[in-house]
Amino acid sequence: MDASILFALLLALFIPILLHLVIRHKYSSYNLPPGSLGFPLIGQSISLLRALHSNTDYQWYQDRIKKYGPVSKMSVFGSPTVFLTGPVANHFVFSNQDLIFTQTKAVNALMGRSILTLSGEELKQVRSVLQGFLKPEMVAKYIWKMDEEVKRHIDLNWVGNKTVTAALLAKRLTFNIICSVVFGQGAGPIREALVTDFATMIKATLSIPVNIPFTKFNKGLTTSHRIRNLLRRIAREREAALQQGLCSSDDDFFTYMLSLRSEGVHSLTVEDIVDNAIVLLTAGYETSSVLITFLLRYLANEPDILSKITEEQDEIAWNKRPNEPLTWDDVSRMKYTWKVAMETLRTTSPLFGSFRTALKDIEYQGYHIPKGWQIFTAQTVTHLDAKYFEDPNKFDPARFGNQSSIPPYCFVPFGGGPRMCPGNEFARSETLVAMHYLVRQFRWKLCCKEEGCRRDPMPNPVLGLPIELETRTPPEHPRS
Ligand code: HEM
Repeated sequence: MDASILFALLLALFIPILLHLVIRHKYSSYNLPPGSLGFPLIGQSISLLRALHSNTDYQWYQDRIKKYGPVSKMSVFGSPTVFLTGPVANHFVFSNQDLIFTQTKAVNALMGRSILTLSGEELKQVRSVLQGFLKPEMVAKYIWKMDEEVKRHIDLNWVGNKTVTAALLAKRLTFNIICSVVFGQGAGPIREALVTDFATMIKATLSIPVNIPFTKFNKGLTTSHRIRNLLRRIAREREAALQQGLCSSDDDFFTYMLSLRSEGVHSLTVEDIVDNAIVLLTAGYETSSVLITFLLRYLANEPDILSKITEEQDEIAWNKRPNEPLTWDDVSRMKYTWKVAMETLRTTSPLFGSFRTALKDIEYQGYHIPKGWQIFTAQTVTHLDAKYFEDPNKFDPARFGNQSSIPPYCFVPFGGGPRMCPGNEFARSETLVAMHYLVRQFRWKLCCKEEGCRRDPMPNPVLGLPIELETRTPPEHPRS
């Protein structure tokens, strides 16, 4: 054997042993959870990324739980990490004051000074203004934009086509909606330029944070810089338009934030507003598009559920004038459709987990978690646990008929506690508006029944969900 290969093998064997001894010495008085930290920096990252990529992450978690129990240590995305599972763990992760909301090192580098990376008073201020913009009363004001974007998108991309690639279109749609709400930009070259850059940046959020040319992380940094420059320019233009009275505070996220700043409600700079706009554009695009994609996929195989949704949507349409946009009240009446969406979120959660960092040494179920370590909980583990959801692999929206029967912290697609997703009402509204028009206008079949999925980091059908379309003529009101 070549001496250099032998040396590399010895190193590969030696480093984890050395690391194990160092950790054992450093934390000799700690009762650390079972498990290994693996190779420095890399740890179990590659193995977890591979599992996410091949959509076998649920099995990966189960194998870990079987081997080490519900609390174990490992090292992912550059940090020593304690992996916790179950509703008690979810509650602990979402509500413990000594755990701070952290992102992977890659996210910190890519997202700037935003709600995702701030803490203390600065975080309180940012979260409060973002919540203000995403709260139901505000969504009710701009839901017409969602309606307009959905109708335009369907006319341009669905009508007249025999087959479409649904996942790609869903991404395009949710990206257009969030762009329209964040900076009011009509369809055009700016959206075109941003959409590819966002896809590259999102892929980089789960990369190993070493800035070497041509790596995912390096490409992510370059595109995040480009996105920031473009949004900074738009923010300045919106600021000028606002000062000249050419637009109002309710027009979009930029004008809303800039107006609040001039009223002294917050002290965020244009740079801060741009960084938070990047978070909104990122958080509000692939998450909802995954939900729409998998709703379409499940409904292709569930004719009874599709016909109940259609009944609900036809009823809503019959109470409106032709072409009248959907309102907040209309969306609030789409109760059955939302149950189907929740079942979709349970079975295919857009986010695979939540990460926090321990601010100080803490204890969980008799184990010590050292200060600075990462804590990671995976939502799919409780979502697919037969203890909380009977026959968990069955697609059954009826289980959301009585939501109080679902124990707390078992169904957490939007997280929980003080950092729960502030965009949940936004996501609900855009998904329901999209489903209203799709379900009334089309019937569809999967082109590939056995199409697999992968997470990168969001789940996606590998071929992008090609579907065969048939036009449906919505029926007249039976009493008209
Ligand atoms: C189906 C769609 C969505 C899902 C499943 C989802 C899920 C989540 C989850 C689980 C978290 C918390 C993560 C944690 O605790 O570790 C989160 C945070 C967040 N989401 Fe969503 N989200 C969705 C849509 C949206 C939309 C449409 C927006 C904005 C328009 C948005 C904005 C945010 C923001 C800003 C945060 C960070 C909150 C904070 O740092 O305090 N999300 N989301």
